[in-house]
Amino acid sequence: MEYIRVADKAELPANKMILVVVAGKEVLLANVDGSYHAIANKCTHLGGSLSKGSLEGSIVTCPRHGARFDVKTGQAIGNARIGFIKMSVKDEVSYTVKVEGTDIFVGSA
Ligand code: FES
Repeated sequence: MEYIRVADKAELPANKMILVVVAGKEVLLANVDGSYHAIANKCTHLGGSLSKGSLEGSIVTCPRHGARFDVKTGQAIGNARIGFIKMSVKDEVSYTVKVEGTDIFVGSA
C-alpha cells in the first residue's frame, strides 16, 4: 500500500475534519481526540459531502439528509431521512491513516 501525505497535524485540530484528496478520490480526514481517521467523503446515500457535515465524537452526520457514519470504521450507523421517509445507507470505504512527526498520511490501495 502506498501512503500519501495529505496534511500537517497543525491543519487539523482535535474534533475537526477536513477534505483531502488521495489518488484522485475525495477523502474525509477527521481528528477524534487526537487520533486520525479517514473515510470516503461522498455520502453513500446521494453523494452529499460529509466534510461539510458535523462531527460529534467519531460520528459524522451528512449535511443533506442526516445519515450518520462512524469515521473510525466507515460503518453506517444512522439512516438518511427525507421528510418522514427513512432510507438505510451503505457503509463508507475507510482508509488507513498513519502519522510520522507532524505529517499525516492516508493509505491508497
Ligand atoms: S446524501 Fe447523505 S444522507 Fe442523503
